[in-house]
This record gives sequence, structure tokens and C-alpha cells, in this order.
Amino acid sequence: MAGRVDNKIAVVTGAASGLGAETARRLAAEGAFVMLTDRDQSGADVAAAIGERADFVLHDVTDEAEWAAVVSKTLERFGRPSILVNNAGIASGGLELLTHSFDDWRRILSVNLDGVFLGLRHFGPVMAAKGGGSVINLSSILGKVGLPGAAAYCASKGGVIMLTKAAALEWAPLGIRVNSVHPGFIDTPMVAGALHAAENGTEMRDRLIAAHPMARFGIPREIADAVVFLASDESSFMTGAELVIDGGYTAQ
Ligand code: NAI
Repeated sequence: MAGRVDNKIAVVTGAASGLGAETARRLAAEGAFVMLTDRDQSGADVAAAIGERADFVLHDVTDEAEWAAVVSKTLERFGRPSILVNNAGIASGGLELLTHSFDDWRRILSVNLDGVFLGLRHFGPVMAAKGGGSVINLSSILGKVGLPGAAAYCASKGGVIMLTKAAALEWAPLGIRVNSVHPGFIDTPMVAGALHAAENGTEMRDRLIAAHPMARFGIPREIADAVVFLASDESSFMTGAELVIDGGYTAQ
């Protein structure tokens, strides 16, 4: 049976862990060739476990020269990609607005927003030359609603929403669709790390779970399957859209 993204070529950033790793696995399982990238070398193990359909490049999404290298390595290894998942991101780790240093602010915006901009800039022309493609940008429910202690994170993810819509409008004539995904809290190393670092982690976990009407965190597969949908031709009339997957968090 044909896969949902059979023989398409995909690039997934931040693919060493959590949602990126699961997305790379799901895309490959549905027939894609996948270039995984991450600043963490353990992404090579994720690619090796997927097998022949996957490879890995060490890549910091804030470094423009490294983006150029990811493009050329992807072309060399698999050919022209038609799927880009801008997934790499960092949490703000409970930084209150008044305790944020300007450096903290810049570091978070640089990974979560500049990284997406650079991905669009470097892969847009490559996809256009192929006749189109699909870009999926990981935003968050925290791009849509605020959370105390997460000002820089919320600002970065809100920025991803509007960057996505502007790119979708500019690139519709080129056949490139650009959509954003908005997960609620999902059980990944990012969330586990943030809760571990918090003074009252257990209490905070309970409070966050209770904020989801479905009374649980999501699992990576629930996001990865939605990314596969946006990557595939099943979503061929969707662009500039916000796909919310949050157990009801923002329905309240
Ligand atoms: P994670 O921390 O498990 O994985 C993130 C990956 O990104 C890591 O492998 C890390 O090495 C990589 N990364 C970080 N900075 C990088 C950089 N400068 N260059 C290249 N790679 C870099 O996080 P998770 O939970 O899988 O998050 C993935 C995306 O989903 C992020 O953009 C996050 O903001 C977003 N998200 C996550 C939610 C959650 O509850 N887990 C909820 C909503 C959005």
C-alpha cells in the first residue's frame, strides 16, 4: 500500500528529540526520505534507527551558513525536498518578564523565530524550483494564548503564526503551502525538563494537566501524525492555517 508521503523528500529540524524525532519516524514510515537535523549529535542515532530512508546533519538553526549546508547535503543525499518541518525550539524555562535578561529574550527569539525565518529563506527557492511543497512550522498554543513566565516563548510562537501566514500568501502562487501547528502540552523532554527545573514541578504538572479539558498531556505521535497530514497531499487546499492539537486547552 502506498504511504501518505510516498517518495517525497523531507527535512525535519530539531529531530534528535521529542516531536521532531517522532515526526521523522512517522514521515519515513509513510514513505518519505528524511533528512534529520539538530544541534545535538544524537540525532544521528535517531536517523540510524529509521534506516536507509533517513540521514542526519549537525545543524544549529540560528546559523545561516549551516542552513546553506543543510540544503546542499539534502540535495546531494536525496534530491530536491518538498517538505520542511521547522520544529527546533527551546522553552523559556520560567523566566518572568522582569527577570528576563535581554540575552535570554534574544536567545529564545533567535531559535524559535529566526530559525523558522532562515528555514523559509533557504528552502523556499529549492521547493519553488521543484514546483512547490509544504512547510510546517511548529508554533504552540502559547503563540495564541499567554502563560505567565513564558513571555519570550509566547512572543516567539506568536511571531511564528504571522510569519507563517505572510509566507503562505507570498508563496501560494509558487505552489508552496505554509501552515503552523499548535500543540498543547505534550510529553517530551522539553516539558519534562521544564517541570524538573521548576521548584514545584509536580504541582505544576497537575495544574497544567487540569488546564487541558481532556485531562492529560498529549503524546508525540498525536502531533507527528498531524504534521504528516500537512506534509501530504491530503491537505492540498490548506495554507496559512493554524492547526490546533491541544486536548481542548484553547477552546475554553
Ligand atoms: P525537545 O526539547 O524534546 O526537542 C527539541 C529539539 O530541538 C532538541 O533535539 C534540541 O536539540 C533541538 N534544538 C534546540 N535548539 C536548536 C537549535 N538552535 N538548532 C537546532 N536544533 C535545536 O522539544 P519538543 O517538545 O519536541 O518541541 C519541539 C517543538 O515543538 C518546539 O518548537 C517546541 O517549542 C514545540 N512545542 C512543544 C510543545 C510540547 O509541549 N512539547 C508544545 C507546543 C510546541
